[in-house]
Amino acid sequence: MSERTSRTFRSSAWFAARDKDGFIHRSWMGRGLPADVFDGRPVIGICNTWSELTPCNAHFRQLAEHVKRGVWEAGGLPFEFPVTSTGETSVRPTAMLFRNLVSMDVEEMIRANPIDGVVLLCGCDKTTPALVMGAASCDVPTIVVSGGAMLNGNYRGQEIGISHLWKFSEDVKAGVMTQQEFMEAEPCMSRSTGTCMVMGTASTMAIIVEALGLSLPNNAAIPAVDARRYTLAHESGRRIVDLAREGVPLSRVLTRQAFENAIRVNGAVGGSTNAVIHLLAMAGRIGVPLTLRDWDDIGRTVPTIVDLMPSGRFMMEDFYYAGGLPAVLRAMGEAGLLHRDALTVNGRTVWENSSDAPNHNREVIRPLDRPVVAHGGIAVLCGNLAPAGAVLKPSAASPHLMRHRGRAVVFENIEHYKVRVNDPDLDVDKDSVLVLKGCGPKGYPGMAEVGNMGLPAKLLQQGVTDMVRISDARMSGTAYGTVVLHVSPEAAVGGPLALVRDGDPIELNVEERRLHMEVSDEELARRRSEWRAPVLARRGGYLQLFLEHVEQADTGTDFDFLVGCRGHEIARESH
Ligand code: FES
Repeated sequence: MSERTSRTFRSSAWFAARDKDGFIHRSWMGRGLPADVFDGRPVIGICNTWSELTPCNAHFRQLAEHVKRGVWEAGGLPFEFPVTSTGETSVRPTAMLFRNLVSMDVEEMIRANPIDGVVLLCGCDKTTPALVMGAASCDVPTIVVSGGAMLNGNYRGQEIGISHLWKFSEDVKAGVMTQQEFMEAEPCMSRSTGTCMVMGTASTMAIIVEALGLSLPNNAAIPAVDARRYTLAHESGRRIVDLAREGVPLSRVLTRQAFENAIRVNGAVGGSTNAVIHLLAMAGRIGVPLTLRDWDDIGRTVPTIVDLMPSGRFMMEDFYYAGGLPAVLRAMGEAGLLHRDALTVNGRTVWENSSDAPNHNREVIRPLDRPVVAHGGIAVLCGNLAPAGAVLKPSAASPHLMRHRGRAVVFENIEHYKVRVNDPDLDVDKDSVLVLKGCGPKGYPGMAEVGNMGLPAKLLQQGVTDMVRISDARMSGTAYGTVVLHVSPEAAVGGPLALVRDGDPIELNVEERRLHMEVSDEELARRRSEWRAPVLARRGGYLQLFLEHVEQADTGTDFDFLVGCRGHEIARESH
């Protein structure tokens, strides 16, 4: 046994025996390796979501090599293994349909293999929550290395981010941008590997894992192609070996305090609404009680101080140069908005990591007394339209619509929306409330990012730039608008959203957290008696598993049978 190893690791059940089984395990896994690497040192799994079909994670093979350097250097034994990867832009009907599938892959492969600690290589949106969820259900020592964001886009000398795509698209519809200009902008947007460069879901989730203490400091913001990302991967490889030696399971880091820090950080950075669903699911896996209501109670008063698109002006590259998350954590810690003593994977507390972090640009990371939005966070709405809750991101919404009353214009599903929204005869005006049904976890299925439905062309041409929109869908973190999302229960399972009809007056009051349709209880009861559940396509395979077991958005849309930590014990040995 190595001098640096003082404990017997899980992997010894594979590699320690001098018998037939040990022979098989060492001989097969040890191809090309000296025999003494099986001396009882910790075995580190590098869980890789590299795929050419996931362009945001295209550099993960190189990243894994740098993690391995660190693992070797610290006296561990690294083995890289692939798991299912979901590329947000290409996977249909929506990558969210497969988040839980990926998490099952991760959980089962960690448990099934001789792994004492794991490095999760996370990038494109769903890869982060899926990998953390899977690891949390096993509870082995874990570090996250994120892929980093792509470089800022640049179109005709103007810095652009993914959020510009929504604007460009609507500019073409409104006739203020030509089709040729639109096509010219295409290669100017995505200039390097890495995740979307605005405060979209991928950036948000990278920030969330750093706020949770699951990564080394600065993991969230270093650009994908910056040499310092590879240094961080190397250092993470070193550190996971120590974590395994110290026997620090994920549950020691993923505490209630850590989740509360993450919720507040999401408010401070103006993070994506998707973080709500993913954080609830992650908490469910590790066994920390967390509710949708906590998002409002804990995050309500947190000012948004990071001025990034889609709510603000800058992008992730700028955020890193300004100081990244440590600078935000310092500001929050000084203001009493942080559990300072929450443990992080480098063995230090979140405050020890950030208490002297510099802020190099007070326009990108503003002081708390000059915030982008005074009360950021996520507004959790409730009312007869969303009894189990719905969410809205105030920093992405229009102030004049935060208190609004308008007539519903209803789309029964996304296909109905597509054929109807640009009908010149559609009875809609700027005060209408667009209501989209059938896009929740079961209804779509997979809860697609269609909640920020485009506005009717005839209103865009009148100069209307935002309207209240309500749905059981999600919204891309790169999008913006006064958009009420994740209405629970969803329409497909008979939530009140299913009962809304054209012309119903709907009231949104964000200050009072109220979402109400002005329809009498008697009328709603009558409509319910007439309502027929949609026939969901149970065609076997994974889709059937999904439809039968996915939970609603207010609890994280995990599968009912996956919630909880099952540990890393193996039920029976196969040899
Ligand atoms: Fe991968 Fe946005 S498409 S992070």
